[in-house]
Amino acid sequence: MAIHNEAKIGEIAKTVLMPGDPMRAKYIAENFLEDYKLVNTVRGMYAFTGKYKGKEITVMASGMGMPSIGIYCYELYKFYNVENIIRIGSCGGHVDYLKVLDIVLVDKSYTEGNFAKNMTGVENHIVQSSSYLNEVIEQTAKELNQKYVKGNMACTECFDPYLDDPMQFVNRLPKEYNLMGSEMESFALFFTAKHLGKNATCLLTVSDSLCTSEELTSEQRQNSMNEMIKLALESTLKL
Ligand code: HPA
Repeated sequence: MAIHNEAKIGEIAKTVLMPGDPMRAKYIAENFLEDYKLVNTVRGMYAFTGKYKGKEITVMASGMGMPSIGIYCYELYKFYNVENIIRIGSCGGHVDYLKVLDIVLVDKSYTEGNFAKNMTGVENHIVQSSSYLNEVIEQTAKELNQKYVKGNMACTECFDPYLDDPMQFVNRLPKEYNLMGSEMESFALFFTAKHLGKNATCLLTVSDSLCTSEELTSEQRQNSMNEMIKLALESTLKL
């Protein structure tokens, strides 16, 4: 038990897949897991523990934004002995080589925000994902013949499409990090993992882009999401 999680100790697997949306956690459990059990409903932030090809795995939602994922991943690592968290989410693209529906493996996450200083008192705005998890995912992608783009992302506190001037934001991001796009959770996840000596990485599908205005069908979105879920689940078999 933790403040925001009613699962009993032992009801959460060593490896957790973390979509933002609780309904996506339910979708993954219903469509990909066997013998699954709902182990958390506090605030509707569903966690399901079940088996994927015989391996125990938990799928738990993170909610949106750094403060939300920061709470849930801290509790998973600190109180439930979780070792590995793979966030699976969506992102917006900033660069023309990143296409809508591409799958991204996040290498480093950059934030303008103060999550790191708030947690530790020390300012930090860039954090690396787990190279151990990334090696496993890259090897699995090769075996599945699954294409992906590995690179760095900006972790934002305001959804890009709602910014007064999205291009002003993109243009002030530090050029040396080659940031490919935006999402809203990876920095808090990677930083918390690093701080607690645990592993975290992040897979994303590109849902929108500042460079193109492609219209997507819900079927296209779901297919790309399913490919990412499969890559994450197959990777967990090696952990
Ligand atoms: N910004 C931040 N997070 C996102 C976006 C975006 O444009 N698209 C999907 N998640």
